[in-house]
Amino acid sequence: MRVPLLDLTRQHELVKDDVATRVARLFESQQFILGPAVEEFESAFRDLVGGGHAVGMSSGTDAQLAILMALRIGPGDAVITTPYTFFATAGCIHRTGAEPVFVDVEQGTLNLDPAGLLEFLESRCKADADGNLLTPRGNKVRAIIPIHLFGTCCKMDEIQAIADRFKLAVIEDAAQAVGAEYRGASGIKHAGAIAASSYFSFFPTKNLGGAGDGGMSVCRDEELAVRLRLMRNHGMEQRYFHHEVGGNFRLDALQAAVIHAKLPHLAGWNAARRHNAALYREAFAAKGLGEFLTPPVSPAADLENSHIYHQYVIRACDRDALMAHLQKAEIGCAIYYPVPLHLQECFAYLGYKAGDMPVSEAASRESLALPIFPELRPEEWDRTAPVPPTPGLIPP
Ligand SMILES: Cc1ncc(COP(=O)(O)O)c(C=O)c1O
Repeated sequence: MRVPLLDLTRQHELVKDDVATRVARLFESQQFILGPAVEEFESAFRDLVGGGHAVGMSSGTDAQLAILMALRIGPGDAVITTPYTFFATAGCIHRTGAEPVFVDVEQGTLNLDPAGLLEFLESRCKADADGNLLTPRGNKVRAIIPIHLFGTCCKMDEIQAIADRFKLAVIEDAAQAVGAEYRGASGIKHAGAIAASSYFSFFPTKNLGGAGDGGMSVCRDEELAVRLRLMRNHGMEQRYFHHEVGGNFRLDALQAAVIHAKLPHLAGWNAARRHNAALYREAFAAKGLGEFLTPPVSPAADLENSHIYHQYVIRACDRDALMAHLQKAEIGCAIYYPVPLHLQECFAYLGYKAGDMPVSEAASRESLALPIFPELRPEEWDRTAPVPPTPGLIPP
Protein backbone atom coordinates (compact mmCIF):
# COMPACT_ATOMS: atom_id res chain seq x y z
CA MET A 1 0.00 0.00 0.00
CA ARG A 2 1.35 3.35 -1.11
CA VAL A 3 1.23 6.19 1.45
CA PRO A 4 1.06 9.62 -0.20
CA LEU A 5 2.88 12.62 1.23
CA LEU A 6 -0.34 14.53 0.62
CA ASP A 7 -3.66 13.58 -0.94
CA LEU A 8 -5.93 16.56 -1.54
CA THR A 9 -8.72 14.47 -3.08
CA ARG A 10 -9.68 13.37 0.44
CA GLN A 11 -10.05 16.96 1.60
CA HIS A 12 -12.11 17.69 -1.48
CA GLU A 13 -14.63 14.99 -0.52
CA LEU A 14 -15.30 16.90 2.69
CA VAL A 15 -15.59 20.39 1.22
CA LYS A 16 -16.91 19.83 -2.28
CA ASP A 17 -20.55 20.74 -1.55
CA ASP A 18 -19.63 24.00 0.22
CA VAL A 19 -17.16 24.84 -2.52
CA ALA A 20 -19.75 24.13 -5.20
CA THR A 21 -22.32 26.33 -3.46
CA ARG A 22 -19.98 29.31 -3.18
CA VAL A 23 -18.65 28.86 -6.71
CA ALA A 24 -22.19 28.58 -8.11
CA ARG A 25 -23.13 31.80 -6.29
CA LEU A 26 -20.12 33.52 -7.80
CA PHE A 27 -21.05 32.38 -11.31
CA GLU A 28 -24.56 33.69 -10.76
CA SER A 29 -23.08 37.10 -9.89
CA GLN A 30 -20.40 37.03 -12.65
CA GLN A 31 -18.25 39.27 -10.41
CA PHE A 32 -14.95 37.58 -10.97
CA ILE A 33 -12.58 40.48 -10.25
CA LEU A 34 -12.54 41.62 -6.61
CA GLY A 35 -16.15 42.32 -5.52
CA PRO A 36 -18.18 40.71 -2.69
CA ALA A 37 -16.59 37.22 -2.76
CA VAL A 38 -13.13 38.70 -2.18
CA GLU A 39 -14.38 41.22 0.39
CA GLU A 40 -16.27 38.57 2.37
CA PHE A 41 -13.26 36.30 2.41
CA GLU A 42 -10.92 39.15 3.41
CA SER A 43 -13.21 39.96 6.31
CA ALA A 44 -13.44 36.32 7.48
CA PHE A 45 -9.67 35.90 7.16
CA ARG A 46 -9.02 39.10 9.08
CA ASP A 47 -11.21 37.75 11.90
CA LEU A 48 -9.30 34.47 11.88
CA VAL A 49 -5.93 36.18 12.12
CA GLY A 50 -7.22 38.61 14.71
CA GLY A 51 -7.80 42.09 13.45
CA GLY A 52 -6.01 44.54 11.25
CA HIS A 53 -6.63 44.70 7.51
CA ALA A 54 -6.55 41.76 5.12
CA VAL A 55 -5.94 42.44 1.42
CA GLY A 56 -6.42 39.49 -0.94
CA MET A 57 -3.53 38.93 -3.34
CA SER A 58 -2.87 36.67 -6.31
CA SER A 59 -0.28 34.54 -4.44
CA GLY A 60 1.85 34.55 -1.33
CA THR A 61 4.69 35.80 -3.49
CA ASP A 62 2.66 38.76 -4.72
CA ALA A 63 1.36 39.42 -1.19
CA GLN A 64 4.99 39.80 -0.08
CA LEU A 65 6.01 41.84 -3.11
CA ALA A 66 3.06 44.19 -2.60
CA ILE A 67 4.08 44.82 1.02
CA LEU A 68 7.67 45.56 0.03
CA MET A 69 6.45 47.91 -2.71
CA ALA A 70 3.93 49.56 -0.38
CA LEU A 71 6.75 50.19 2.12
CA ARG A 72 8.74 51.72 -0.76
CA ILE A 73 11.59 49.27 -0.37
CA GLY A 74 13.83 49.31 -3.44
CA PRO A 75 17.32 49.89 -4.80
CA GLY A 76 19.77 50.99 -2.11
CA ASP A 77 17.81 49.13 0.59
CA ALA A 78 18.44 45.78 2.25
CA VAL A 79 16.02 43.30 3.81
CA ILE A 80 17.09 40.58 6.22
CA THR A 81 15.67 37.06 6.07
CA THR A 82 16.86 33.46 6.44
CA PRO A 83 18.28 31.21 3.74
CA TYR A 84 16.31 28.15 4.86
CA THR A 85 12.94 28.82 3.27
CA PHE A 86 11.05 28.68 0.01
CA PHE A 87 12.69 30.79 -2.69
CA ALA A 88 9.97 33.44 -2.88
CA THR A 89 10.96 35.12 0.39
CA ALA A 90 14.34 36.19 -0.95
CA GLY A 91 13.23 36.34 -4.59
CA CYS A 92 10.77 39.15 -3.82
CA ILE A 93 13.43 41.17 -1.99
CA HIS A 94 15.69 40.89 -5.03
CA ARG A 95 12.85 41.84 -7.39
CA THR A 96 12.33 45.18 -5.64
CA GLY A 97 15.99 46.00 -6.33
CA ALA A 98 16.88 45.66 -2.64
CA GLU A 99 19.65 43.45 -1.29
CA PRO A 100 18.55 40.15 0.28
CA VAL A 101 20.61 39.65 3.46
CA PHE A 102 20.74 36.22 5.04
CA VAL A 103 21.02 35.49 8.75
CA ASP A 104 21.18 31.86 9.79
CA VAL A 105 18.34 29.98 11.48
CA GLU A 106 18.44 28.57 15.00
CA GLN A 107 18.81 24.88 15.75
CA GLY A 108 15.48 23.33 16.62
CA THR A 109 12.76 25.48 15.12
CA LEU A 110 14.87 26.35 12.05
CA ASN A 111 13.47 29.88 12.31
CA LEU A 112 15.40 33.15 12.30
CA ASP A 113 17.94 33.17 15.14
CA PRO A 114 17.50 36.42 17.11
CA ALA A 115 21.06 36.18 18.44
CA GLY A 116 22.44 35.93 14.90
CA LEU A 117 20.25 38.83 13.83
CA LEU A 118 21.56 41.02 16.62
CA GLU A 119 25.12 39.99 15.92
CA PHE A 120 24.72 40.90 12.26
CA LEU A 121 23.25 44.32 12.99
CA GLU A 122 25.69 45.19 15.75
CA SER A 123 28.89 43.83 14.29
CA ARG A 124 28.55 43.68 10.52
CA CYS A 125 26.57 46.84 9.77
CA LYS A 126 27.72 50.44 10.12
CA ALA A 127 25.78 53.66 10.62
CA ASP A 128 26.23 56.38 7.99
CA ALA A 129 26.27 60.16 8.68
CA ASP A 130 22.43 60.25 8.56
CA GLY A 131 22.15 57.45 11.11
CA ASN A 132 21.10 54.83 8.54
CA LEU A 133 22.32 51.33 9.22
CA LEU A 134 24.27 50.06 6.20
CA THR A 135 25.08 46.46 5.28
CA PRO A 136 28.67 45.54 4.35
CA ARG A 137 27.53 46.00 0.72
CA GLY A 138 26.48 49.58 1.54
CA ASN A 139 22.69 49.21 1.44
CA LYS A 140 20.33 50.65 4.02
CA VAL A 141 18.76 47.99 6.24
CA ARG A 142 14.99 48.58 6.13
CA ALA A 143 13.18 45.44 7.20
CA ILE A 144 13.35 41.94 8.66
CA ILE A 145 11.29 39.04 7.32
CA PRO A 146 11.08 36.22 9.88
CA ILE A 147 9.52 33.06 8.43
CA HIS A 148 7.21 30.88 10.54
CA LEU A 149 8.68 27.83 8.86
CA PHE A 150 6.68 24.60 8.58
CA GLY A 151 3.96 26.11 10.80
CA THR A 152 5.66 27.29 13.97
CA CYS A 153 6.21 30.90 14.97
CA CYS A 154 9.55 32.66 15.28
CA LYS A 155 10.70 34.26 18.53
CA MET A 156 8.81 37.37 17.64
CA ASP A 157 9.23 39.37 20.86
CA GLU A 158 13.00 39.12 20.60
CA ILE A 159 12.95 39.93 16.89
CA GLN A 160 10.59 42.87 17.39
CA ALA A 161 12.75 44.29 20.20
CA ILE A 162 15.79 44.19 17.90
CA ALA A 163 13.78 45.75 15.06
CA ASP A 164 12.56 48.54 17.36
CA ARG A 165 16.09 49.27 18.51
CA PHE A 166 17.33 49.62 14.94
CA LYS A 167 14.08 51.16 13.59
CA LEU A 168 13.37 48.36 11.13
CA ALA A 169 10.04 47.11 9.83
CA VAL A 170 9.08 43.51 10.60
CA ILE A 171 7.12 41.59 7.97
CA GLU A 172 6.01 38.10 9.01
CA ASP A 173 6.18 35.37 6.38
CA ALA A 174 3.17 33.36 7.56
CA ALA A 175 2.81 31.46 4.27
CA GLN A 176 3.07 28.14 6.09
CA ALA A 177 1.39 29.08 9.35
CA VAL A 178 -2.33 29.84 8.97
CA GLY A 179 -3.82 29.34 12.43
CA ALA A 180 -0.51 29.00 14.31
CA GLU A 181 -0.30 30.85 17.61
CA TYR A 182 2.44 32.67 19.45
CA ARG A 183 2.60 33.54 23.12
CA GLY A 184 4.45 36.82 23.63
CA ALA A 185 4.64 39.52 26.24
CA SER A 186 1.32 40.95 25.02
CA GLY A 187 -0.52 37.62 25.13
CA ILE A 188 -1.38 34.97 22.57
CA LYS A 189 -1.60 36.09 18.96
CA HIS A 190 -2.05 34.36 15.66
CA ALA A 191 0.75 34.18 13.13
CA GLY A 192 0.28 37.17 10.87
CA ALA A 193 -1.00 39.45 13.63
CA ILE A 194 2.18 39.68 15.66
CA ALA A 195 4.17 42.20 13.61
CA ALA A 196 2.89 45.28 11.77
CA SER A 197 2.49 43.37 8.51
CA SER A 198 2.47 39.82 7.22
CA TYR A 199 1.59 37.66 4.27
CA PHE A 200 0.04 34.24 3.66
CA SER A 201 -0.05 31.76 0.81
CA PHE A 202 -3.06 29.74 -0.33
CA PHE A 203 -1.08 27.55 -2.72
CA PRO A 204 -3.16 24.35 -3.04
CA THR A 205 -0.83 22.27 -0.83
CA LYS A 206 -0.84 24.79 2.02
CA ASN A 207 -2.81 24.00 5.19
CA LEU A 208 -5.45 26.39 3.84
CA GLY A 209 -5.14 25.99 0.09
CA GLY A 210 -7.12 27.19 -2.90
CA ALA A 211 -7.81 25.68 -6.31
CA GLY A 212 -4.87 27.56 -7.78
CA ASP A 213 -2.70 30.42 -6.60
CA GLY A 214 -3.81 32.88 -3.94
CA GLY A 215 -2.40 34.91 -1.08
CA MET A 216 -3.17 37.54 1.53
CA SER A 217 -1.36 40.58 2.88
CA VAL A 218 -2.30 41.56 6.42
CA CYS A 219 -1.39 44.77 8.20
CA ARG A 220 -2.27 46.79 11.27
CA ASP A 221 -2.02 50.23 9.75
CA GLU A 222 -4.92 51.63 7.72
CA GLU A 223 -2.59 53.71 5.57
CA LEU A 224 -0.54 50.66 4.62
CA ALA A 225 -3.74 48.80 3.77
CA VAL A 226 -4.73 51.60 1.41
CA ARG A 227 -1.32 51.37 -0.27
CA LEU A 228 -1.59 47.59 -0.52
CA ARG A 229 -4.92 47.95 -2.35
CA LEU A 230 -3.29 50.45 -4.67
CA MET A 231 -0.31 48.16 -5.30
CA ARG A 232 -2.48 45.15 -6.17
CA ASN A 233 -4.34 47.14 -8.81
CA HIS A 234 -1.60 48.84 -10.85
CA GLY A 235 -1.34 51.78 -8.45
CA MET A 236 -4.82 52.84 -9.55
CA GLU A 237 -7.58 54.18 -7.37
CA GLN A 238 -9.69 56.04 -9.91
CA ARG A 239 -9.92 53.99 -13.07
CA TYR A 240 -7.06 54.62 -15.53
CA PHE A 241 -5.34 57.16 -13.27
CA HIS A 242 -2.09 55.71 -11.91
CA HIS A 243 -0.37 57.40 -8.96
CA GLU A 244 2.39 54.83 -8.87
CA VAL A 245 3.42 51.65 -10.60
CA GLY A 246 1.87 48.62 -8.92
CA GLY A 247 0.94 45.28 -10.42
CA ASN A 248 -1.96 42.97 -11.02
CA PHE A 249 -1.80 41.22 -7.67
CA ARG A 250 -5.55 40.77 -7.20
CA LEU A 251 -6.91 37.68 -5.49
CA ASP A 252 -9.14 35.88 -7.96
CA ALA A 253 -12.76 35.89 -6.74
CA LEU A 254 -13.02 32.22 -7.66
CA GLN A 255 -10.12 31.43 -5.33
CA ALA A 256 -11.66 33.56 -2.59
CA ALA A 257 -14.88 31.53 -2.87
CA VAL A 258 -13.04 28.20 -2.70
CA ILE A 259 -10.78 29.14 0.21
CA HIS A 260 -13.68 30.73 2.09
CA ALA A 261 -15.56 27.42 1.88
CA LYS A 262 -12.58 25.67 3.46
CA LEU A 263 -12.03 28.21 6.24
CA PRO A 264 -14.46 26.65 8.78
CA HIS A 265 -12.51 23.38 8.57
CA LEU A 266 -9.11 24.88 9.27
CA ALA A 267 -9.14 24.48 13.06
CA GLY A 268 -10.10 20.79 12.76
CA TRP A 269 -7.45 20.18 10.12
CA ASN A 270 -4.78 21.84 12.22
CA ALA A 271 -5.87 19.74 15.23
CA ALA A 272 -5.58 16.58 13.13
CA ARG A 273 -2.08 17.60 12.03
CA ARG A 274 -1.09 18.10 15.67
CA HIS A 275 -2.59 14.73 16.57
CA ASN A 276 -0.57 13.05 13.82
CA ALA A 277 2.56 14.81 15.03
CA ALA A 278 1.97 13.49 18.56
CA LEU A 279 1.58 9.95 17.16
CA TYR A 280 4.88 10.28 15.30
CA ARG A 281 6.61 11.41 18.46
CA GLU A 282 5.25 8.41 20.40
CA ALA A 283 6.12 6.00 17.61
CA PHE A 284 9.69 7.27 17.34
CA ALA A 285 10.12 6.92 21.10
CA ALA A 286 8.60 3.42 21.12
CA LYS A 287 10.94 2.38 18.31
CA GLY A 288 13.96 3.84 20.05
CA LEU A 289 14.77 6.01 17.05
CA GLY A 290 15.74 9.03 19.13
CA GLU A 291 19.41 8.69 18.29
CA PHE A 292 18.77 8.70 14.55
CA LEU A 293 15.80 10.97 14.07
CA THR A 294 15.00 14.31 15.58
CA PRO A 295 11.30 15.20 15.46
CA PRO A 296 10.37 18.84 14.85
CA VAL A 297 10.39 21.06 17.91
CA SER A 298 7.76 23.51 18.97
CA PRO A 299 8.92 26.59 20.87
CA ALA A 300 5.90 26.44 23.19
CA ALA A 301 4.81 22.84 23.50
CA ASP A 302 2.17 23.84 26.08
CA LEU A 303 0.44 26.21 23.66
CA GLU A 304 -2.12 24.24 21.68
CA ASN A 305 -1.52 25.79 18.27
CA SER A 306 2.10 26.73 18.67
CA HIS A 307 2.89 24.38 15.75
CA ILE A 308 0.30 23.57 13.12
CA TYR A 309 2.62 21.21 11.22
CA HIS A 310 2.09 22.55 7.77
CA GLN A 311 4.96 20.15 7.14
CA TYR A 312 6.24 17.48 9.51
CA VAL A 313 9.97 17.74 8.99
CA ILE A 314 12.31 15.46 10.86
CA ARG A 315 16.09 15.58 10.94
CA ALA A 316 17.88 12.31 10.17
CA CYS A 317 21.59 11.64 10.51
CA ASP A 318 21.56 9.73 7.19
CA ARG A 319 18.69 11.48 5.49
CA ASP A 320 19.38 10.24 1.98
CA ALA A 321 19.47 6.57 3.09
CA LEU A 322 16.23 7.06 5.03
CA MET A 323 14.63 8.72 2.04
CA ALA A 324 15.68 5.89 -0.30
CA HIS A 325 14.29 3.40 2.20
CA LEU A 326 10.93 5.19 2.45
CA GLN A 327 10.70 5.60 -1.31
CA LYS A 328 11.28 1.87 -1.77
CA ALA A 329 8.49 1.23 0.73
CA GLU A 330 6.30 3.69 -1.23
CA ILE A 331 5.94 6.05 1.72
CA GLY A 332 5.75 9.65 0.56
CA CYS A 333 8.50 11.98 1.72
CA ALA A 334 10.19 15.12 0.40
CA ILE A 335 13.12 17.39 1.06
CA TYR A 336 12.36 20.94 2.17
CA TYR A 337 14.76 22.51 1.13
CA PRO A 338 17.71 20.87 -0.64
CA VAL A 339 19.75 24.04 -1.31
CA PRO A 340 19.71 26.98 1.12
CA LEU A 341 19.08 30.27 -0.62
CA HIS A 342 22.50 31.82 0.03
CA LEU A 343 23.98 29.04 -2.14
CA GLN A 344 21.49 29.35 -5.00
CA GLU A 345 23.11 30.20 -8.31
CA CYS A 346 20.93 33.28 -8.83
CA PHE A 347 22.24 34.78 -5.58
CA ALA A 348 25.92 34.17 -6.32
CA TYR A 349 26.28 37.95 -6.79
CA LEU A 350 25.71 38.37 -3.06
CA GLY A 351 29.03 36.63 -2.39
CA TYR A 352 27.98 34.00 0.16
CA LYS A 353 29.85 30.70 0.26
CA ALA A 354 29.35 27.23 1.72
CA GLY A 355 29.93 27.32 5.47
CA ASP A 356 28.49 30.83 5.93
CA MET A 357 25.15 29.54 7.27
CA PRO A 358 26.04 26.25 8.98
CA VAL A 359 22.66 25.56 10.60
CA SER A 360 20.73 26.09 7.36
CA GLU A 361 23.26 24.04 5.42
CA ALA A 362 23.00 21.13 7.89
CA ALA A 363 19.18 21.37 7.78
CA SER A 364 19.31 21.09 3.98
CA ARG A 365 21.34 17.89 4.32
CA GLU A 366 19.32 16.31 7.13
CA SER A 367 15.67 17.34 6.75
CA LEU A 368 12.91 15.11 5.50
CA ALA A 369 9.16 15.75 5.44
CA LEU A 370 6.85 12.83 6.27
CA PRO A 371 3.09 12.53 5.58
CA ILE A 372 1.15 14.63 8.12
CA PHE A 373 -2.01 15.63 6.25
CA PRO A 374 -5.24 15.53 8.29
CA GLU A 375 -6.91 12.73 6.31
CA LEU A 376 -4.10 10.20 6.74
CA ARG A 377 -5.84 6.83 7.33
CA PRO A 378 -5.07 4.52 10.29
CA GLU A 379 -3.85 1.74 8.02
CA GLU A 380 -1.48 4.20 6.27
CA TRP A 381 -0.45 5.50 9.60
CA ASP A 382 0.53 1.98 10.69
CA ARG A 383 2.93 1.87 7.79
CA THR A 384 4.34 5.36 8.18
CA ALA A 385 4.51 6.19 11.88
CA PRO A 386 6.91 3.53 13.07
CA VAL A 387 9.29 4.50 10.27
CA PRO A 388 10.93 1.15 9.58
CA PRO A 389 14.55 1.11 10.61
CA THR A 390 16.90 1.93 7.79
CA PRO A 391 19.72 -0.58 7.43
CA GLY A 392 22.88 0.99 8.76
CA LEU A 393 21.01 3.55 10.84
CA ILE A 394 19.90 1.30 13.66
CA PRO A 395 22.41 -0.26 16.05
CA PRO A 396 22.55 -4.07 15.96
C1 LIG B 1 7.70 30.30 3.32
C2 LIG B 1 7.00 30.70 2.04
N1 LIG B 1 7.02 31.98 1.65
C3 LIG B 1 6.40 32.37 0.53
C4 LIG B 1 5.73 31.49 -0.28
C5 LIG B 1 5.13 31.97 -1.55
O1 LIG B 1 3.79 31.68 -1.68
P1 LIG B 1 3.11 31.37 -3.10
O2 LIG B 1 3.57 30.03 -3.56
O3 LIG B 1 1.65 31.41 -2.81
O4 LIG B 1 3.52 32.44 -4.03
C6 LIG B 1 5.66 30.15 0.10
C7 LIG B 1 4.95 29.17 -0.74
O5 LIG B 1 5.34 28.08 -0.97
C8 LIG B 1 6.33 29.73 1.29
O6 LIG B 1 6.32 28.45 1.67
